[in-house]
Amino acid sequence: MTTADQRPIILTGDRPTGQLHLGHFVGSLRSRVGLQDSHHQHILLADAQALTDNADNFEKVRHNILQVALDYLAVGIDPTKTTICVQSHLPALNELTMLYLNFVTVARLERNPTVKAEIQLRGFERDIPAGFLCYPAAQAADITAFKATVVPVGEDQIPMIEQTNEIVRRVNRQVGRELLPECKVLLSNVSRLPGFDGKAKMSKSLGNTIVLNASDKDIKKAVNAMYTDPNHLRIEDPGQVEGNIVFTYLDAFDPNKEELEELKAHYRRGGLGDGTVKKRLEGILKELIAPIRERRNELEKDPDYILDILKTGTDKCKIITQATLDEIKDGLGMFRF
Ligand code: TRP
Repeated sequence: MTTADQRPIILTGDRPTGQLHLGHFVGSLRSRVGLQDSHHQHILLADAQALTDNADNFEKVRHNILQVALDYLAVGIDPTKTTICVQSHLPALNELTMLYLNFVTVARLERNPTVKAEIQLRGFERDIPAGFLCYPAAQAADITAFKATVVPVGEDQIPMIEQTNEIVRRVNRQVGRELLPECKVLLSNVSRLPGFDGKAKMSKSLGNTIVLNASDKDIKKAVNAMYTDPNHLRIEDPGQVEGNIVFTYLDAFDPNKEELEELKAHYRRGGLGDGTVKKRLEGILKELIAPIRERRNELEKDPDYILDILKTGTDKCKIITQATLDEIKDGLGMFRF
């Protein structure tokens, strides 16, 4: 990349703890594919962060690096446009994290609402792994090492961005100039996709996800299991669209918004059966997933190709992150040979 590249820098990432699913697709993957031309985009496979709450399962994290990389490529993230890298292979991030930990208090880490929620969820109340408590500082290292100004993530990551910017201001104050840029969150316009069982969140542990290589049969089964309006008993009854999971999914995936609005009106009036609406969704999801599944299956046959992409991307990112680390060390006035 030449210095003439004026595009805003993006850094985003995922913890490789499982295959990605339709929730990730609407929440982040789709927008990343769109952003890779207008932005200088880097995606981090955050394996080190994943280990902060999976220290008993290194194998799971290692395995899923390849799985998530396959998901990226299958949805159309293009490695010639987007740099994909593996976090644990970027030593500068660790050095930067250690520096940042001096600029953040334990109380502030404990107050981070996402960390708080995750501590509860994981039952860590009594025994919080130190690495876990500190991961917001590590995430600040991720973002700032790339000098990213745009971070496309879900709502749950807003506290991380706030904390990153606090660290940025603290570093800049110490250095005496705007060495690091502040960053902003780029939220996707579709809010969180519920699980097909109607639970608030699509999550692997709840078993309510549709993965990106789901078979036609899986898709049919998931759509058939979706909650609709419990009061819509007969076709001629008026039905409710709000809170009706089938319509929530249609809102996220139906490419024909005009037809969808007509469908909603018809459903509200009565005379439109759940079966018809589900058939439409099933067709849309099958059409969306089929090419992703095919590409993914194809790519999966050649793991060396994927590893090569990860290695090339990581090598590039090593240079970028080391350069920022050196600049910060100099700025802070640390001893250097
Ligand atoms: N915390 C993010 C998640 O749980 C993953 C992540 C790690 C990340 N480092 C990042 C996201 C840097 C954006 C930028 O999904």
